[in-house]
Amino acid sequence: MSETAFASLAEDLFRQHYAVLPDFFSPAQIRAWHDDAAATSRQGLFRAAAVGRNADRLRDTSIRGDTIHWLEPDTLIPAQQAYLAFLESLRLRLNEQFMLGLFAAECHYAHYVAGSFYKKHLDRHQDSRDRVVSVICYLNDDWQAQDGGQLRLYLDDKTLDVQPLAGTLVCFFSERIPHEVLVVKRERLSLTGWLRVRPVH
Ligand code: OGA
Ligand code: MN
Repeated sequence: MSETAFASLAEDLFRQHYAVLPDFFSPAQIRAWHDDAAATSRQGLFRAAAVGRNADRLRDTSIRGDTIHWLEPDTLIPAQQAYLAFLESLRLRLNEQFMLGLFAAECHYAHYVAGSFYKKHLDRHQDSRDRVVSVICYLNDDWQAQDGGQLRLYLDDKTLDVQPLAGTLVCFFSERIPHEVLVVKRERLSLTGWLRVRPVH
């Protein structure tokens, strides 16, 4: 992450509570994550995502239809190590500049197939109080408006639709910005993570 890339991310995040940064990552970097996600999916390692945590965990495809694969900190796969290292540097730099007290990062690949979506929600709800900054990186080449699957951000006075196009990075304050994933018309892959104020477990 270059100085200028971090500077525009930080400026947008604090000025408007979100940042949308096209071409944040190089095509080669995105390809490595895309290919790893696709291979991991082919190995059957993705699981249906649950809504809520702990006792009230439930799988409800009328709320969200993606499948996910968590990146583990001790992973031996270089592509996954590289993304976790990026999140770690983002965590340290945001702490340094804004004293957010971010303690840890967590991240998963997410896979949506045609017809799936994620209804409007907040990432920081009663069951995930520790999430402060949401960070999403898209892995989809040549995404067109008619492919659907836009990330819709609900801002104070308008909505903003973001195409999940390869290389785009989105960050927002988890507690501030309700959002949804519109119905996707073709396969959609991303890396979705959070910077948190307490340990993951
Ligand atoms: C999520 C989420 C948005 C996206 O996983 O919580 O809102 O664009 N993802 O994938
Ligand atoms: Mn979300």
